[in-house]
Amino acid sequence: MADLEKSLDDAGLTNSSVREYVAHWAEYLGADRIEVVSASDDARLVQEALEAGEIEPAGEGLYYSRSYSKDTARSEERTIVATSRPEDEGVYNNWRHTDEIRPVVEGHMKGAMAGKTMYVIPYLMAPPGSPLERFAAGVEITDNRTVCLHMIRMARVGVNHINQLADQDMFVRAVHVTGDLPNLGQGTPDDKRYFVTVADERTILHFGSSYGGNALLGKIAHGLRQAAYDGYASGEFLGEQFMLLGITDKETGETHHVCGGFPSASGKTNLAMTLAPDALGDRYHVSFYGDDIAWLWVGEDGNLYGLNPENGVFGVAKDTNERTNPTALDSIEPGTQALFTNVAYNEQTHEVWWEGKTPHHPQDATGWRDWKGELIADRNPDEAGDPWAHPNSRFTTTLANVPNVAPDFEDPKGVKIDAIIFGGRTRDREPLVRAIDDLAEGVYDGLTLGAEATAAAEGVEGKLRYDPMSMRPFMSYPEGPYAAQWLKIVGAAKDQPVFAHVNWFQRDPEDGHFLWPGYRENLRALLWLVQYKKGQVTGRKTAVGTIPLKEELNLDGLDIDAGDLDTILDIDVERWRQEMGFREEHLKQFANLPEEIWEAHRRVAAALDQE
Ligand code: GTP
Ligand code: MN
Ligand code: MN
Repeated sequence: MADLEKSLDDAGLTNSSVREYVAHWAEYLGADRIEVVSASDDARLVQEALEAGEIEPAGEGLYYSRSYSKDTARSEERTIVATSRPEDEGVYNNWRHTDEIRPVVEGHMKGAMAGKTMYVIPYLMAPPGSPLERFAAGVEITDNRTVCLHMIRMARVGVNHINQLADQDMFVRAVHVTGDLPNLGQGTPDDKRYFVTVADERTILHFGSSYGGNALLGKIAHGLRQAAYDGYASGEFLGEQFMLLGITDKETGETHHVCGGFPSASGKTNLAMTLAPDALGDRYHVSFYGDDIAWLWVGEDGNLYGLNPENGVFGVAKDTNERTNPTALDSIEPGTQALFTNVAYNEQTHEVWWEGKTPHHPQDATGWRDWKGELIADRNPDEAGDPWAHPNSRFTTTLANVPNVAPDFEDPKGVKIDAIIFGGRTRDREPLVRAIDDLAEGVYDGLTLGAEATAAAEGVEGKLRYDPMSMRPFMSYPEGPYAAQWLKIVGAAKDQPVFAHVNWFQRDPEDGHFLWPGYRENLRALLWLVQYKKGQVTGRKTAVGTIPLKEELNLDGLDIDAGDLDTILDIDVERWRQEMGFREEHLKQFANLPEEIWEAHRRVAAALDQE
């Protein structure tokens, strides 16, 4: 490409390491043109994407895109962490030696941008100036303009973020090639998709998807997998699939920060966004920092800090409505430049719709197309009950659009972490909230986090699909060292955060209704936890942690059955004893698990035997 140097000069890209990297890939991918992307290019890129039919208008300043029908979610089986160190193989990271896998994925990429524009997206995960800034820079190369639009919303994008790096070479090399989507054999033995993070070379090579988690490389591949590995390799921090929020008591003026992990589709975005200011009268204000990723480290003052490296929200659309998540709706209003992916779209009125947005789908199907692009009116009668939107359809919007975004959300210092919570979908056994004071028991609780296997056929009744700290799909190094890294980082904090396990999903065994109303009401459980941390409430000690007394929980104006409340504020000892057996099997898979974790396990088991 003759004008490569000129394109980079015109874009003001001065970092010589980045220029070399871009030149190498432009040549290897055979791109026709190259374009360096900055956030200020957004309006022009939107216009081009509209003209090219890659996105459609969805109201004023709102856009709609549909991904290929076999490309609508992350693909865990095709996701690989590669390094040159065999000791990096864990249970969940799908480790391969770089020498074995790199040639395979690069082979698919060779020449793949012939005739196309290669977009170069310099980005920063984390606000500029943060103590973790040197782990935050990256440059994504992609052939997909819609990916640029998403990256501009989800990360901080522009050459300014990489020109000034203290170490010019310290950036993540993130290469994304969409591939010929209809011919990749998705889900067949001849699947050509590869989503590889070469963690010890800080290189990401993703081939064969244009969907969010696979294609926006700053988010999951860098923000989680690479960051977790960097945190481990440097010994400096943790990169976790966590939401992060602040609760301010307006009477005392104090703010407490809570972060925590729930497996995908278990309510992180909802929790971080819906506890809007007026959830419990006007005494508390809940502010939003992040809904999917947090990096945690110990600051110079010895406190545990957290920050959200992202600049936007990529939230599940399904069931987002005025009752469940009014804040999310506000953040995707006309004028916000939000993007919708794989929801239903009306090509005449430009409206979007998803299951749960309103109780029923629009009465008049005229103009409506489902997530596959099929006209609803033309559907076969046997498809009549199929969802209009894909269950994993999403909205993308920047943090600044979130009405209760914290005033200091861009403060590079991060915020002091007071509590770390874990939660999954558990239909029985797990109470509303149980607080855990001991570090090893807290880490143990995170390691044994899980969500119910959705179809009964998928597993043993009552047995969870374990998802340590909600990181199972994002693990980049082995579980034993991961547990040790947790003990080390959090253990170094002078004011230890309180841990807790929460569960919004306990159900009535007879009719299956949720015992706890959930959503905005979840603030009540978090308030109790904050009070517990401050010693204002004592709760009731059980073998598995401290549970609120009924009178300690703020129940003002809450509509809940008394029997249901008793159930969620108690533990089912028999079920817990059974669970301990499952946990033991689960933990045994992990080599070199710190002895502290086994001791915590044995302590809890012994306490349950005493109950
Ligand atoms: P990823 O973005 O994939 O990491 O998932 P997430 O953890 O952000 O999940 P999200 O907040 O999008 O929630 C997924 C589902 O959980 C939605 O269908 C919500 O309606 C449901 N949900 C969230 N909070 C609650 C709650 O408190 N109670 C009940 N019953 N359902 C909830
Ligand atoms: Mn989410
Ligand atoms: Mn997530």
